[in-house]
Amino acid sequence: MGKFNLLLKNLKICSVGAGYVGVPTMAVFADYCPDVEFNVVDINKEKIDKWNSDDLSKLPIYEPGLDDIINKVRGKNLFFSTEIENNIRKSQIIFISVNTPSVVTGKFENSSDLSNFKKCAEFIAKCSESDKIIVEKSTVPVKSADILKKIFKTIKPDLKFQILSNPEFLAEGSAIDNLRFPDRVLIGSDKDTSSIFARDLLVNVYKNWIPKQKIITTNLYSSELSKLVSNAFLAQRISSINSISALCEVTGADISEIAKAVGADSRIGGKYLKSSIGFGGSCLKKDLLNLIYLSNYYGLKEVADYWLGVLKINQFQSKRFINKILKCFNGNVNNKHINILGWAFKQNTDDSRDSPSIAIAAHLITKGAILNIHDVKVSKFNIISDLSSFWKNKGFCSEKVSEFLDRITFKKTNDIDTFNNSSAIVILTEWKEYKVLNFNKIYAVMSKPSFIFDGRKILNKSKLKSIGYKCFEIGKN
Ligand code: UDX
Ligand code: UDX
Repeated sequence: MGKFNLLLKNLKICSVGAGYVGVPTMAVFADYCPDVEFNVVDINKEKIDKWNSDDLSKLPIYEPGLDDIINKVRGKNLFFSTEIENNIRKSQIIFISVNTPSVVTGKFENSSDLSNFKKCAEFIAKCSESDKIIVEKSTVPVKSADILKKIFKTIKPDLKFQILSNPEFLAEGSAIDNLRFPDRVLIGSDKDTSSIFARDLLVNVYKNWIPKQKIITTNLYSSELSKLVSNAFLAQRISSINSISALCEVTGADISEIAKAVGADSRIGGKYLKSSIGFGGSCLKKDLLNLIYLSNYYGLKEVADYWLGVLKINQFQSKRFINKILKCFNGNVNNKHINILGWAFKQNTDDSRDSPSIAIAAHLITKGAILNIHDVKVSKFNIISDLSSFWKNKGFCSEKVSEFLDRITFKKTNDIDTFNNSSAIVILTEWKEYKVLNFNKIYAVMSKPSFIFDGRKILNKSKLKSIGYKCFEIGKN
């Protein structure tokens, strides 16, 4: 390790994985560390070609502000490539930023699927010709660093690999700000001299823009587990407020007023108290499942059950929302036209992984509804693919899935005709574009009664009611 120079000049850093985490992370690094060369590599050539596209509207993901940074640093000290081997060889620090989804079936169901992570480590080990620092950026179960150590020791016993854990805390849609002004940066390492040296090198990279007091260093396991726990706590807050929203609907209390009153207590704080149709995305559920799996694995059933409760409330919340819609139609939505507004799991992203919209829309279609689905950024292709996978996983045959898909259109919201004969508008993502729709004109073309189900609490209900709509809002009687 003595070969590494703590100075950043000539340092080369590689990220394996050019996804929602790998690219924003490396782009912000590159912006703040002009002396360091960053290479983002991926097995997916089509994706890399898109990252290299001159037309910035063709980048593979939508993340506000990312295009500007890419425009600034790409070709200077940020490069995208499928030449994984070369880039690994020439880099001193390698981030593993590949996806680590949940295992969906079998004995290890709900644990973290580490096959990409392990494959990636094995590949790095095989092609390395010099000592390296390996950084776990992907979210992994506690003690995954031991798996890495074993892989590197077995494949390249003569080289030294220092393992660091440096979890990501970026929320999609605000990833660039989260990376520029993080609440904290967490780096876990072993405590031997070489590991501390490796850790300090990464600390030095971050110190280009992060105040030292915000960089927390811990042991490897604490860092790995802190990531899972952070997401579990965020999920727990959302489930807590959502559980109370059900109580509000039957008592006449208002969940927004409660969130404000409760969140004003500085011991509690006001963030992550927005009641909704439930949390989605590729992380909160996956990381909760992982924590539950680990707790059971270590024989801590009570701990596992505690966190399972958070997930159950999340499912309960989206089921409650579906039931509310069905109830307003006396249980019968057969051949009812319904406009779904929003598919992404939150605003400002094109990501729909584990979005609550999927189950809600799928359920309405299986009950016979005819949907027009709109999202500001998610493509028609992804919406179809989300629904097809959902129904296939539920055991529906291909013919039935095609039949369901035939009940969907994808017309734009700026054309009032999109709402012709519609019985209901269902808001599933809080895109600001939906707040400014012309609800007067829309009401005129809808069938009556016209319902609005606001799953994100973004619309002014008194205005809508004065137009004539029948409104349902989460957490309000
Ligand atoms: C990340 C994390 O790594 C995950 O652990 C965390 O919990 C969520 O965020 P994300 O960036 O969202 O995952 O995944 P994705 O956008 O799918 O990007 C992963 C990339 O890794 C893909 O482009 C995939 O092609 C690439 N990959 C995967 C490789 O390059 N090599 C592999 O062996 C596997
Ligand atoms: C999360 C974590 O926030 C981030 O730190 C982590 O590293 C990756 O996982 P992400 O899943 O991208 O980020 O988005 P986040 O903003 O946390 O939202 C997750 C889900 O919770 C969304 O569906 C969102 O709509 C929902 N949510 C969030 C609520 O329902 N209410 C809230 O108050 C906040």
